[in-house]
Amino acid sequence: MSTTTVIKSDVANPALASEGKKKIEWAARNMPVLAQIKDRFAKEKPFTGIRIAACMHVTTETANLMLALKAGGADIALCASNPLSTQDDTAAALVYEYGISVFAKNAIDRDGYYKHLNSALDIKPQLVFDDGCDLVNVLHTSRTELIEGVMAGCEETTTGVIRLSQMAKDGALKFPMIAVNDTDTKHMFDNRYGTGQSTFDAIFRATNTLIAGKIVVVAGFGYCGKGVAERAKGLGAEVIVTEIDPTKALDAMMQGFRVMPMADAAKIGDVFITVTGNRDVLREEHFAVMKDGAIMANSGHFDIEIDVAWLEQNSKQKNEKMRHQTDEYVLKDGRRLLLLAEGRLVNLGAAEGHPASVMDMSFSDQALTAEYLVKEAKNLKPGVHDVPTYIDKEVAALKLISMGGRIDTLTPAQDMYLNSWEHGS
Ligand SMILES: NC(=O)c1ccc[n+]([C@@H]2O[C@H](COP(=O)([O-])OP(=O)(O)OC[C@H]3O[C@@H](n4cnc5c(N)ncnc54)[C@H](O)[C@@H]3O)[C@@H](O)[C@H]2O)c1
Repeated sequence: MSTTTVIKSDVANPALASEGKKKIEWAARNMPVLAQIKDRFAKEKPFTGIRIAACMHVTTETANLMLALKAGGADIALCASNPLSTQDDTAAALVYEYGISVFAKNAIDRDGYYKHLNSALDIKPQLVFDDGCDLVNVLHTSRTELIEGVMAGCEETTTGVIRLSQMAKDGALKFPMIAVNDTDTKHMFDNRYGTGQSTFDAIFRATNTLIAGKIVVVAGFGYCGKGVAERAKGLGAEVIVTEIDPTKALDAMMQGFRVMPMADAAKIGDVFITVTGNRDVLREEHFAVMKDGAIMANSGHFDIEIDVAWLEQNSKQKNEKMRHQTDEYVLKDGRRLLLLAEGRLVNLGAAEGHPASVMDMSFSDQALTAEYLVKEAKNLKPGVHDVPTYIDKEVAALKLISMGGRIDTLTPAQDMYLNSWEHGS
């Protein structure tokens, strides 16, 4: 533990620290790429004297990212990017076993959530890590006095990148932010295979329902939606995709999924999963025709994809916590609709988020991007920037090796061929 750093915290239960440590170590076993980066950071100390505020899901995988940054000399304050995703044991371990400041409690209310963001910002960050853009938003609205000290930051998810791009378009974003989500090694794997698997992990833990033979409706066929639809198909479901983009919808059809508007899908679906990053995807007109017992889960970033407010206001009864993270809304006509994890990110609310093995890539991208920013932020303009390609390729190459995969190398003739235009038929 650093002797110079003052550790501050607001976590649920310090007694959970040793349990959390075991789980963090378990996750580390499946994060070999991040482990290599951590070892190098420990030798080279790229973050000496750098204060980092991170707003991320407080999970065992995030813990390993924080430990890699700390090994590199960073002074860190971590808060949660979602009120339901915090693992209280992980939070306690980070504070009491590893000496990192953490402000996060599972199931915290909105006021507490924002209080924690502010507590993390009290570190006066030079670098920020965000997941959904809430931290950057607070910096630009109520903590503007800190902006001058921020050199740059990284954003982890699609929704955050969309919000940041809007800020940049309006000229509101005051420092460079790197869209870590947009690396191939993040969205092609984390969004697809991570969300695909962990969304069903959550649905199983919450409902123990049999997916085989069910009609699963997946709203959104982006990276996450593809992963969810593929896993649903593999589990034996009949899968329906809803989309607003004709190309994505066509892709879904050619992969063998049925495509139709939600108004039609709502009548026949057994399980509904939203992954659009949009709002009101399931709303009154859909609730009105859903089958008794339909299950609704959201794996998109914010809790607005399913109109929970309508259910709260218009149901004749709410049976809370029928099972783990499962609330039942009884409509006026007696039909019962099941909502998982309060309509928040289901894979983090009702399960543990993505497996460590996939977060190994996303968080290696984050770690290497942070190192890049320490050196290069001064040369970047305020706005949204891509992760340098060499980082993406390095993470892919290291992960491939760690999984036992090997690839070919171009011969000189092939290299020349690919870089010339003279050869014709
Ligand atoms: N659960 C997780 O752990 C996790 C992981 C990564 C990303 N996310 C979040 O999931 C969401 C989706 O991410 P993505 O990377 O798949 O984004 P994406 O942009 O690749 O895909 C979103 C898709 O939704 C479609 N869409 C938008 N509005 C729609 C509507 N009303 N009905 C049907 N389809 C609609 C879009 O056309 C697009 O194809 C984002 O909020 C992202 O932040 C969650």
